[in-house]
Amino acid sequence: MVTKNYLDSYAQSLEKPAEFWLDAARNISWSTPPQQAIDSSRAPLYGWFPDGVLNTSYNALDRHVEAGRGDQDALIYDSAMLGIKRSYTYAELTGLVAQFAGVLRSRGVGKGDRVVIYMPMIPEAAIAMLATARLGAVHSVVFGGFAPKELAARIRDAAPAVVVTASGGVEPSRRIEYLPAVKEAIGLAGTPDLPVLVKAREGFASSVADHAGWLDWDTEMSVAVPAAPVDVKATDPLYILYTSGTTGAPKGVVRDNGGYAVALSWSMENIYDVCPGDVMWTASDVGWVVGHSYIVYGPLLAGATTVIYEGKPVGTPDAGAFWRVIQDHRVNVLFTAPTALRAIRKADPEAKLLERYDISSLRTLFAAGERLDTDTFHWASRVLGVPVVDHWWQTETGWAICANPRGLDDLPIKAGSPSVPMPGFRLNIVDGSGGDVENGTEGNIVLGLPLPPGTLTTLWRDDERYISSYLQAFEGYYATGDSGYRDEEGYLYVMGRTDDIINVAGHRLSTGAMEQVIGQHPAVAECAVIGLADPLKGQRPSGYVVLKSGVDVPEEILVKDLVALVRRDIGAVADFKHVTVVEALPKTRSGKILRKTMRQIADGDEYTVPSTIEDFAVIEKLIETLRPAAAGD
Ligand code: COA
Ligand code: AMP
Repeated sequence: MVTKNYLDSYAQSLEKPAEFWLDAARNISWSTPPQQAIDSSRAPLYGWFPDGVLNTSYNALDRHVEAGRGDQDALIYDSAMLGIKRSYTYAELTGLVAQFAGVLRSRGVGKGDRVVIYMPMIPEAAIAMLATARLGAVHSVVFGGFAPKELAARIRDAAPAVVVTASGGVEPSRRIEYLPAVKEAIGLAGTPDLPVLVKAREGFASSVADHAGWLDWDTEMSVAVPAAPVDVKATDPLYILYTSGTTGAPKGVVRDNGGYAVALSWSMENIYDVCPGDVMWTASDVGWVVGHSYIVYGPLLAGATTVIYEGKPVGTPDAGAFWRVIQDHRVNVLFTAPTALRAIRKADPEAKLLERYDISSLRTLFAAGERLDTDTFHWASRVLGVPVVDHWWQTETGWAICANPRGLDDLPIKAGSPSVPMPGFRLNIVDGSGGDVENGTEGNIVLGLPLPPGTLTTLWRDDERYISSYLQAFEGYYATGDSGYRDEEGYLYVMGRTDDIINVAGHRLSTGAMEQVIGQHPAVAECAVIGLADPLKGQRPSGYVVLKSGVDVPEEILVKDLVALVRRDIGAVADFKHVTVVEALPKTRSGKILRKTMRQIADGDEYTVPSTIEDFAVIEKLIETLRPAAAGD
């Protein structure tokens, strides 16, 4: 029997992992319940519940209907953009998912096939994900803010049988037409005849009728035969989610079915304290891991109600938007990114708009995606009067590595810390050579193997890249790529990335990918992109370019060109708007650009110049250029 307090649960998960996780697995309905917890036969690649058989979509939907909760709301769609509110009961959602699974099946999608989903925040995005899972197929959702080239890279790697999309997305300033982007992407991917299924939305220029051979969602739904859930092995993949690596090529994080269902279900009860019938609203996007885990799978596995919000924290129509949604849908738990809270605070510093709404249903606010800075933590705690819980995780882990488990205990919350490690995460802080560091000393945050259920099992069709990217730096550990320290009570403080990944408004982006795009410009000899501190978005990318000799382009034109290139090839979401022309970039003797030093100089932080620096004069020159350029941004 597992005890319900944090310290005992954590200790048991490390000392007796099989017992702990097999016990947690009882919350899931299995076709064949697992007898074995961990499969170490392919170490350092591990699997969870190798003899278990289940269907994740069945667990998220049908079983709640069978348990008599068919009339309870499963999903509420609230579009602040369009002024639409619509709810779906568990019975309705199960019917729609079964029907759309029938559509996919009629187009040849079966167990193990991939389905790429490129959709805005509408219920059909979740329906498409759950329908794919119902067939035992594998979805790969691509965030709608990514440009055709990024979509093409994912289509090329995942090799889907079908692409599911919608006419477009609605941003406050404009409508984003998806169909031309999909057309371009399948062309770039070399698969121009790939079947495309389109959910039509009003108000877009391009429609399914403009594309020969493309299929209309509603028409297909009207003739489809509903499909039953297909049994899969717990270790079979549920989805691939591409995330930024340090190179231009995104990494296809692979999530399994059984481990994920068990871990999410544990987290809903013990971290978020969400029970059947509660309302959880995660204000993110289905294109990110947070959306996969806590807009779609987590709340539905728990039999709770989830909210799909198409809108922004501010401007749709004002900084009271979140409070309005909490009131209208009686939200119990809100999960958002710190940047959204900062945007609300900037627009309404005293949260005066709160006076218009009744948010008494709210029990807890969770934040993740980037560090919850202490100012924002104190502000949110004060104005909302509920516990504000920072928790730290990554696309790779699928659920929180560190959190304050509200369903287990009343552990103190410390400003600036995502609290303590969750079960199964053997958290350690090590120095560059893998040695343990003392409490209070910053180092690389690593996780002992095997990782708990729900975490990535590998990278899509690339075990070697998984091992070389994550498992080789520190023997026996998974390297998170984050640095931080622990205090005397074991609370973690995450300080930032150790690689070239940046976090812009909670969106994870690769500066390497931006450099690749900028490097294509004929005037650019070399370049570096770094993430500078930004009071609203946490970080913002800033590019530094060295021109080829003899090139004579006016700087304003070059800057415009480069900004447009990154927007075209990566997407508006990169928010790449700043470029500075410099005479040279600081490098080590082996040619490595000192991006960290550049960032420190630009942010006005303390920095030390490595002794391997090629030319100190370059650094001195940069100090003159970077500081005023950064301050003037
Ligand atoms: N599809 C197409 N374009 C998108 C998009 C999407 N799904 N999401 C964002 N964009 C575009 C925006 O329209 C904007 O384009 P613009 O440069 O032409 O104006 C650009 O990408 C940057 O958008 P955004 O990051 O939303 O910045 P913003 O300045 O408009 O708004 C915030 C700032 C803080 C309000 C906003 O970033 C926000 O809500 N952040 C929270 C993000 C979040 O929840 N992340 C969760 C990850 S866990
Ligand atoms: P993503 O894979 O998009 O979820 O981004 C993961 C990265 O975001 C982590 O490796 C961290 O660098 C950062 N991050 C996410 N949540 C937090 C948090 N609560 N505190 C600090 N950094 C965070």
